[in-house]
Amino acid sequence: MTEPDQAPDRRNFVTKAAAIVVGGLISVVAPVAGLFTVFDPLRRKTDTRGLVRITSLSALPDSGEPRKFPVLDTLVDAWNRTENVPVGSVYIQKTGENTVRVLNTVCPHLGCSVGYNAASSGYFCPCHKSAFALDGSIADPKSPSPRAMDALEAEVRDGEVWVRFQNFRKGSPDKIPV
Ligand code: FES
Repeated sequence: MTEPDQAPDRRNFVTKAAAIVVGGLISVVAPVAGLFTVFDPLRRKTDTRGLVRITSLSALPDSGEPRKFPVLDTLVDAWNRTENVPVGSVYIQKTGENTVRVLNTVCPHLGCSVGYNAASSGYFCPCHKSAFALDGSIADPKSPSPRAMDALEAEVRDGEVWVRFQNFRKGSPDKIPV
């Protein structure tokens, strides 16, 4: 066979070899890239316990009477981000010019919703009759609640009240985050 006759064969061989190598790389890289894409959300940190804006300070009476507010948070799971999901509720009292007290409305006994009684200036749980003072402490020693209402970390920023919402284990004398 002459030299010019062999040239097309060599070109074909090189072209086919290159196609096999490129095809092999694509068949390996594409699935790996796809796995990264699919599982990327799992690598993100989920945080539903950051500070959440609840209300403005001006919405609270200067008298210190508590107001109840829902807590709406952004929930992020592996693949979804959902805004304004109700995750609980809080009582907020203005305790000073720029300070507040925030209490989780969940009764530490067995988890009923604690109500505010303006007449007695305190909180009362209708389920088993736990009574709490305005600061959340147990008001009646016969209350079955094993601890005071759960106070939550809060801060006032530019006239807005921000709360680190948290639930705690029920029925325990200790405040154990859940
Ligand atoms: S759940 Fe509140 S007193 Fe039992």
